[in-house]
Amino acid sequence: MEPVRVGLLGLGTVGQGTATVLLRNAEEITRRAGRDIYVDFVATRDAAKAKALGLTAARLTDNAWDVVDDPAVDMVVELFGGDTLAKELLVKAIANGKHVVTANKALIALHGNEIFAAAEAKGVMVAFEAGVAGGIPVIKALREGLSANRIEWLAGIINGTGNFILTEMLQKSRDFADVLAEAQALGYAEADPTFDVEGIDAAHKLTILSSIAYGTPLQFKQTYTEGISRITAEDVAYAGELGYNIKHLGLARRTAKGIEQRVHPTLIPQRCLIANVHGVMNAVQVQGDAVGPTLYYGPGAGAEPTASAVIADIVDVVRAMTADPNNRVPHLAFQPSKLTNTQVLPIEEVETAFYLRMKVADRPGVLADITRILGERDISIEAFLQKEPAKDESDVDIIMLTQRVREGNMNEAIGQIEQLAAVAGEVTRIRVEALA
Ligand code: NDP
Ligand code: HSE
Repeated sequence: MEPVRVGLLGLGTVGQGTATVLLRNAEEITRRAGRDIYVDFVATRDAAKAKALGLTAARLTDNAWDVVDDPAVDMVVELFGGDTLAKELLVKAIANGKHVVTANKALIALHGNEIFAAAEAKGVMVAFEAGVAGGIPVIKALREGLSANRIEWLAGIINGTGNFILTEMLQKSRDFADVLAEAQALGYAEADPTFDVEGIDAAHKLTILSSIAYGTPLQFKQTYTEGISRITAEDVAYAGELGYNIKHLGLARRTAKGIEQRVHPTLIPQRCLIANVHGVMNAVQVQGDAVGPTLYYGPGAGAEPTASAVIADIVDVVRAMTADPNNRVPHLAFQPSKLTNTQVLPIEEVETAFYLRMKVADRPGVLADITRILGERDISIEAFLQKEPAKDESDVDIIMLTQRVREGNMNEAIGQIEQLAAVAGEVTRIRVEALA
């Protein structure tokens, strides 16, 4: 059989990893795919990289349009990143009848609806396993392995850089900028690392997981997003005293009122497996009505772990190339005509428990004022810590865990608490999830 000819866009971290693993494991991969897979054409601005990788037979260009327009290329593997040029190239590749594999979650989260429609009209496949949770085959699991289930909720640590930073800073007291620089050197971070730190990358990934779980079009703009930049060592320590770890979590949940779709720092009980996922590792827990809880764990970023997912997609595409397009696995798990526009709930309507920390004057009556404000909004306190004032200070830290409450009510309560003369500065609030 003729080999499948791949056009590779980009020889950065993931591009180099993909070329390396494709060459190293060529024989095993061919035994699985049923055909040789051959990197035929590479778009790179650095020809020396291709030579160093051993891509000696591949044609090279610094003009990516040459690759997507080349009639000999069967499949385009997009590893440039970004959502402008990459989008134009993918749309053109699809229009030219080529299958596409990408690790680009920003592109899928922002433009996937349009890209999938174009691919379906043309009868080609768009595969994007590497876009979510690096090397973990979580899209495969959710889209195929769990297709019997109604997904009740899913929650995951889905940004390797962020989890690496949190782990190194908070467990080893390392400096933020220093750890971020290391994550960049290791090839974990996005081209713009604020995507990692401010939760945007995790929001891209959660948007994709949520659509696959609930059969909705991709709704990135509706994903509530908070990053890790405001987590402090003292909150981590207090959370630990209460039996929790703080993680940056992406969570999608089906409720009677709509879908919750949110990424933010979260207190998770230390007894949960996911609370103990550290460094660049990611994990996604999925609760299905039939299967119950399942957990997927592995490296969330890096050259070869991500290449593992990219190449699994290449093999899948090769296997399905000759299948009737109607018999392929739909891009978002559900048949395109059966996607529903279920509402994503505004964050004010979401119900969670909260961790609250505030600095208050150490005098009688203050606590009574705070509990009155909470009580007026039906907010019950589940646990409470009060610390001794630091030497020469009259204010003390008080820390509370509340029961579940509508976020809008909590916002009102915090607004009123911050008005109290005895409360200094802002109230820190972090959502709490029991994942049960
Ligand atoms: P890199 O920045 O390391 O690689 C991108 C490569 O594309 C660079 O070598 C760059 O070349 C090249 N490139 C960009 N534009 C052009 C162009 N017009 N012509 C030729 N070459 C071009 O990024 P990553 O490999 O880390 O990421 C690639 C994609 O994979 C992104 O979408 C990312 O989100 C995703 N991803 C990354 C993971 C990771 O662990 N790094 C994990 C999962 C997904 P040059 O250096 O010359 O600019
Ligand atoms: N920057 C991303 C991360 C790469 O750190 O998770 C993997 O998607």
